[in-house]
Amino acid sequence: MNALRKTVLLAGLGLVASTAFAAVDDDMKALASKSGCLTCHAIESGTPGPNGMAPIGPAWQDVAKMYQGKPGADTFLTRVVLEGSNPYGSHWKNQVSGLAMPPNKVAIKEADAKKLVKWILTLAPK
Ligand code: HEC
Repeated sequence: MNALRKTVLLAGLGLVASTAFAAVDDDMKALASKSGCLTCHAIESGTPGPNGMAPIGPAWQDVAKMYQGKPGADTFLTRVVLEGSNPYGSHWKNQVSGLAMPPNKVAIKEADAKKLVKWILTLAPK
C-alpha cells in the first residue's frame, strides 16, 4: 500500500472513531439531562455554580479524576447515585455547595445509572 492510501485510510478510521465517540457523548449527555443530573453537575472542571457559589455537585471531570483507576468505582458510584450521598460523610466537603446528593432512583433506572457512571469515569482530562 502506498503512503497516500495509508494516510487516507488512517484519516478515515480516525473520523469513524471520533464520530462514534461523539455519538456516545451525545447519548450520555441526553440521558444526564433527562435524568436531572445537570441541574447540579457540570461536566467540565472549573464551571462555576449558581450566583457565584461553588458548584452544587462536583464537575464530572473532577469525579473521574478522583476515582480514576480505583477498582469497583463504577459499582460504588452507581450506588451513591441511586441511593444518594450521606451529608455527614461528604466526599466533596468544602468543594461543592450542595450538602448531599438526593437519591436519584426515582429519576433514573439502575442500568442507565451504571452506563452514565461508566461514562463519567472516562471524562478525566488527558
Ligand atoms: C440536587 C442536586 C443533585 C442532583 C440532581 C444530582 N447530583 Fe450528583 N451530587 C450532588 C452533590 C451535592 C454531590 C456531592 C456529594 C458529596 O459531597 O459526597 C454529588 C455527587 C455525585 C457523584 C460523586 C459521588 C461520590 O461519592 O464521590 C456522582 C458520580 C454523581 N453525583 C452523579 C450524579 C448523576 C449521574 C446524577 C443524575 C442521575 C446526579 N448526580 C444528580 C448533587 C446532585
